[in-house]
Amino acid sequence: MAAAPLLDVDGLVTGFEAGNRFVPVVRGVSFSIARGETLALVGESGSGKSLTALSILGLVPPPGRVAAGRILFEEVDLATLDERALQPLRGGRVGYVFQEPATALNPVFTIGDQIVETLEVHGVAYGAAARTAAVDLLADVAVPEPARRLDAYPHELSGGLRQRALIAMALACGPVLLIADEPTSALDATVQAEILDLLRGLKARRDLAMLLITHDFGVVAHNADRVAVMYAGQVVEQAAVEALFAAPAHPYTRALLASMPDAVPRGGRLPAIPGAVPLPGEFGNACAFAPRCAARFDACDREAPALVSVGAGHTARCLLYPAGTDLGEATGRQAPVRADQRAGDAR
Ligand SMILES: Nc1ncnc2c1ncn2[C@@H]1O[C@H](COP(=O)(O)OP(=O)(O)O)[C@@H](O)[C@H]1O
Ligand SMILES: [Mg+2]
Repeated sequence: MAAAPLLDVDGLVTGFEAGNRFVPVVRGVSFSIARGETLALVGESGSGKSLTALSILGLVPPPGRVAAGRILFEEVDLATLDERALQPLRGGRVGYVFQEPATALNPVFTIGDQIVETLEVHGVAYGAAARTAAVDLLADVAVPEPARRLDAYPHELSGGLRQRALIAMALACGPVLLIADEPTSALDATVQAEILDLLRGLKARRDLAMLLITHDFGVVAHNADRVAVMYAGQVVEQAAVEALFAAPAHPYTRALLASMPDAVPRGGRLPAIPGAVPLPGEFGNACAFAPRCAARFDACDREAPALVSVGAGHTARCLLYPAGTDLGEATGRQAPVRADQRAGDAR
């Protein structure tokens, strides 16, 4: 019998009260993460990735709220816990690296003070022992001269070192799960690569599970085991990383992959997906991606696709795939054609 996943999110609905209407932003998201596993959550800005992550630890800012779903972490449903019960998990069993680096470190305290505070609040270490632990943490995230850096203020550090300090803080209490929301998007390319290497090393050394949020498939390729692609508040495809790159099923995934810098011919322009992610409340009752979809056909404007299995551990939410489709033999990135459309397709 397989061990229970570390985190098992099932049917998560998160949204906002607007007037006397509830506007869903995250619309029935389900995924699970095993111990030591990295799941990447991918999608364009505005697809609901951050709200999904914030929902896990009850950090959705009002007027937002989790309206439905189960969030089993170590077999406890976090969706049923109150603030008091959630507090020790935040920065405790679950480390969090937030999307906005500017707000994550307090500018008036040194790096050391902030790591020490985290250790003390969680009762891990106090005083001199906490300072020693903080030096070890900075060393573990490869901050050079960690003892000296302990007394630096955030503004005295480069962007890359600040991000390392934040990661050290998230790891301070020995979490089993690290949620990292776009941990490198504010950094330049070289530093990004260094931080991603660091996260990969930490994952291996500490047997950390990770929810890694990104809009970059390069990050997915290098750091994740599995990937869930989100669009307009729903998971539209989920697969092991190799399977997703070898045989991407959803037209949205294909379009995202085609817009990766590596896919652009030398001197070519980065092909962007035409159109924009729909705003919450404007998802419609059919396929939310249809207006931008290269493989769209008539039914796409009428029917909302369900998430169906398209291969081993591989699911997709697209009307191209009636339940029971198996992409096992599919290779490359050619869009598959529905059996009933294959003959006489004029295009
Ligand atoms: N506090 C809020 N009030 C109203 N809408 C919000 C709020 N926070 C996020 N949203 C909306 O929810 C959508 C998804 O947000 P988010 O989870 O941040 O997406 P992502 O992280 O994928 O970019 C966005 O369209 C955003 O405008
Ligand atoms: Mg976000």
